Amino acid sequence: MFIPDEFIQELKNKTDIVDVVSGYVRLKKQGKNMLGLCPFHNEKTPSFNVSTDKNFFHCFGCKASGDVITFIRRIENLDYIEAVKFLAQRAGLDVPEGRGQSEGLSKIRNRIYEANRAAARFYYKCLYSPVGKNALDYLHKRGLTDKTIVHFGLGYSPPSRFELLNHLKNLGFSNEEAFQANLANKSEKERFYDRFSDRVMFPIIDLRGNVIAFGGRIMSDIQPKYLNTSDTPAFSKGNTVYALNFAKNKANGQLILAEGYMDVISLHQAGFENTVATLGTALTKDQANLIGRYCKEVVICYDADEAGQKAAERAINLFRETELSIKVLKVPDGKDPDEFIKANGENGAAKFRLLLDKCGNDVEYRIAKLKIKYDLDVTEQKVEFLTEIAKLLAGLENDIEKDAYISKTAEDYDIDRNALSAQVKKYSKQQEMKEIPVQVQPFERKEDSSPKSKSSKAEEALLALLMTNPDAALAVCPDFPVEMFSAPLNKKVYEKIKERAEKGLGTEPVDISGFFSNDENSRISSMVYLRPRENDPFRAVNIYMTILEEESQKLKSKAATMSDEEIMEQILKNRKRKK
Ligand code: UTP
Ligand code: MN
Repeated sequence: MFIPDEFIQELKNKTDIVDVVSGYVRLKKQGKNMLGLCPFHNEKTPSFNVSTDKNFFHCFGCKASGDVITFIRRIENLDYIEAVKFLAQRAGLDVPEGRGQSEGLSKIRNRIYEANRAAARFYYKCLYSPVGKNALDYLHKRGLTDKTIVHFGLGYSPPSRFELLNHLKNLGFSNEEAFQANLANKSEKERFYDRFSDRVMFPIIDLRGNVIAFGGRIMSDIQPKYLNTSDTPAFSKGNTVYALNFAKNKANGQLILAEGYMDVISLHQAGFENTVATLGTALTKDQANLIGRYCKEVVICYDADEAGQKAAERAINLFRETELSIKVLKVPDGKDPDEFIKANGENGAAKFRLLLDKCGNDVEYRIAKLKIKYDLDVTEQKVEFLTEIAKLLAGLENDIEKDAYISKTAEDYDIDRNALSAQVKKYSKQQEMKEIPVQVQPFERKEDSSPKSKSSKAEEALLALLMTNPDAALAVCPDFPVEMFSAPLNKKVYEKIKERAEKGLGTEPVDISGFFSNDENSRISSMVYLRPRENDPFRAVNIYMTILEEESQKLKSKAATMSDEEIMEQILKNRKRKK
């Protein structure tokens, strides 16, 4: 769907950002701005600012920043179009249905949601009719109550291969539509038939309550055990977290990440309603970030088997890239969480609570895993074990954390703290040396790396000026080449500004925010928000352009004369300075 610029402007004019934000954050007046506790990270003292005259929010703590549309995108977890619709409804405006490429896509998506919803209702009905008796018994035998079954909307797909299709047809859905939703398969002879047959059905629901996909479990030994909806225009496996629609409201700072549908459902039934799962694939970066948006701490609770523990290692590494604190809960006796709860009968929930309360963080988990491999009564093995720990601790980025674990390990295993510390330092250095060639490429600045160089500051300042002074953008853009910008995001932003300025379209952050992700928008609005107003923007624009031109000259000539060793030396120097 394409939304005309004029409409966005009108929406912006009719929407008071303070009003909107106040629906989520308690704001107090402070000077010209409003101040409150940031809804995007956890804090005790307010650093979340809303500026009425600039029409922006900005958090000095987590650097979240943007216009009112970005605010709604983030807090309601909507995409750009959805956020615009959300605000339009609030302002009593009708979103004009402009013509555009993606209009078709959003229509298709809505049809898939509708077909899926109808299918979920159908499966549910089947579960509670004679044809579903076996399936219902199966679920009851697995310990689920009817209340839980209803809550999760579980169902049963009957064995004949045409009932759902017929049902959908009666409701006005074509075969092609059922196929597009991946509710139907198509044979080589172009015949359509139900994709799911004789399976217990688990609807997958997004954060807005749309049924976006299904998982279906067979009740015998036939493979695959679970058949899932393949990716459709309305569903992408790697972006979806099962049961987050329920768990996000129960998180209270913590989410438990399990492996399977049944683990989630069992744990919810046992009172752990903050449990979610990936959908049978390894955790993705998107999923880790999504989880990070709804809690401060994640407890990884994967199966105790080897595959599960490998997956846990991977998940730890992905979560380490987020701000989340990480805990790892290993269920004893090789069971998965569902089996554990059930094996302990009435005490299942209480016993799981104990595990949850005493489970360690990711470092402790890794140490415990190493410990199993060695017999610590044998001196040689103890040395090997401690050497492994030293290597592990050397990999920790946070120096305080590193220090704390050096002390703890020295104490736990009764060895000299200084010796251990020296060993860790040695490995830290080695690991650093190893990382350099792959991590840092000469002259390609890593974004957001501090301290910012002169030219990267100038790039941002110039972009800020162009975004807020349409006349300057109009004058500069036709001649100033995009190559003058080095940071990838800056390049992208400049390209957008240039494209729009040349067409006479708006270039403020609010005008271009539809083309960027939430994180990118945060950085874009920070550029503008953090700048004082210039008295003479044209003069400032000229100064920054000159800096960029000079810098780009310098880089060219320097790169040509420096040897590899010199480049390496430069990198090492920069790294030292950073620490
Ligand atoms: P598991 O094999 O651990 O199954 O797969 P489970 O969750 O314990 O299921 P039950 O208890 O036997 O019913 C974990 C998850 O991997 C995905 C599913 O999402 C499952 O919940 N999976 C597994 C598939 O997608 N397909 C499969 O064939 C198997
Ligand atoms: Mn299981």
